[in-house]
Amino acid sequence: MDSHCPASRSITLRFLAEPTDVNFGGKVHGGAVMKWIDQAGYACAVGWSGYYCVTVYIGGIRFYKPIYIGQIVEVIASVVHTGKSSVHIAVDVTASEPKTGVRKKTTRCLIVFVAVDGAGDTVRVPSWEPVSEDDIRLQEYAIRMAELRTQQEHKLLEIDHKMVQ
Ligand SMILES: CC(C)(COP(=O)(O)OP(=O)(O)OC[C@H]1O[C@@H](n2cnc3c(N)ncnc32)[C@H](O)[C@@H]1OP(=O)(O)O)[C@@H](O)C(=O)NCCC(=O)NCCS
Repeated sequence: MDSHCPASRSITLRFLAEPTDVNFGGKVHGGAVMKWIDQAGYACAVGWSGYYCVTVYIGGIRFYKPIYIGQIVEVIASVVHTGKSSVHIAVDVTASEPKTGVRKKTTRCLIVFVAVDGAGDTVRVPSWEPVSEDDIRLQEYAIRMAELRTQQEHKLLEIDHKMVQ
């Protein structure tokens, strides 16, 4: 049977930061962290929707602490809001020392995916409803971010328009 079972709203990727992830300062490259965020978000969005999903927005990204090679990286992606075709996902990254288990929060961001069918047309996604107080807070954050995005896009269009005149 091939039908889509409703997935859990979260997914966790766990792996070691490898020497190939290093930047010029000897820590994990910001681009590597963004790739992991995109991968975890993608797996979460596809699991939630049951469709192939494309990234339309990454924002609110904050690098709190560096990640060092050899640390255990955990990337947790959770659905925090859904629209018609969009799945809004909060991603938290932590790094821990294998020897001590001491863990620190390193990165956080919000990423939006859109579910598409084989022809690339958007499709409806199952709606996600917040249950806990934390869920409600996270959903409000995602909605507020969407409003700010729209305002920002309008402002940028105005500036673009003035520049080409
Ligand atoms: C995803 C895509 C098919 C949507 O097409 P579109 O014409 O913008 O479709 P719509 O305007 O109907 O928007 C679809 C959804 O995307 C959301 N969206 C569009 N632009 C967005 C943005 N900048 N930020 C957040 N959400 C956005 C809309 O809010 C809408 O959500 P909803 O259905 O829940 O209301 C198209 O934008 C696309 O192909 N983008 C490129 C994706 C890509 O290549 N990503 C990188 C590699 S995966």
